[in-house]
Amino acid sequence: MTADGESRAASLAPLAARLDPPLAVVTTVAGGERAGCVVGFHSQCGIDPPRYAIWLSKANYTYRIGVFADLFAVHLLNRANRAVAELFATTTGDEVDKFARCRWTAGPGGVPLLDDVADRIVGRRRSLVDVGADHVGLVLAPLEVSDRPEGPGAESWLRVGDLAGWSAGHDADERHPPR
Ligand SMILES: Cc1cc2nc3c(=O)[nH]c(=O)nc-3n(C[C@H](O)[C@H](O)[C@H](O)COP(=O)(O)O)c2cc1C
Repeated sequence: MTADGESRAASLAPLAARLDPPLAVVTTVAGGERAGCVVGFHSQCGIDPPRYAIWLSKANYTYRIGVFADLFAVHLLNRANRAVAELFATTTGDEVDKFARCRWTAGPGGVPLLDDVADRIVGRRRSLVDVGADHVGLVLAPLEVSDRPEGPGAESWLRVGDLAGWSAGHDADERHPPR
């Protein structure tokens, strides 16, 4: 990255930290390989038609499987899901079969649905955007959305700040193959 780019990244970080977005686990499957990781970069990005965007780090195993995948599940984590968050944020599918260490059920097209997370969007990939940064955007058309109008409120989401001090399975500035 250029010196200019580095200073802009440094100046964005404190404001981004104050946003403290809720966390999700994105899971997917392609060629019989399951993958999943925690994401803080995700949001609704269309109303009509409805669209949901997720951003995967190019360093992650989930990205390398997701490039070939059609279906994704976005699991919105709450404070009861810390164990799931730790598994999917701090370990990598390059080394660990995460799905041997959690409870899940095969959903549409075999996409893994985490049994312990109630709030979920299952979507079909509509586009992939590489903006030349370290993350790639995937835009999903929702197929199934969990409906919990009486579910817990916004204060119950597990947020980026709740994982302070945790080390990600892959840092976003890693390169693959490693140099
Ligand atoms: C607070 C937090 C937020 C994260 N946000 C993202 C994200 O938005 N996108 C992403 O691809 N990885 C994100 N990660 C990193 C992955 O969850 C992590 O590197 C994971 O171990 C990758 O697993 P994988 O190699 O099996 O895909 C985040 C990690 C943490 C701790």
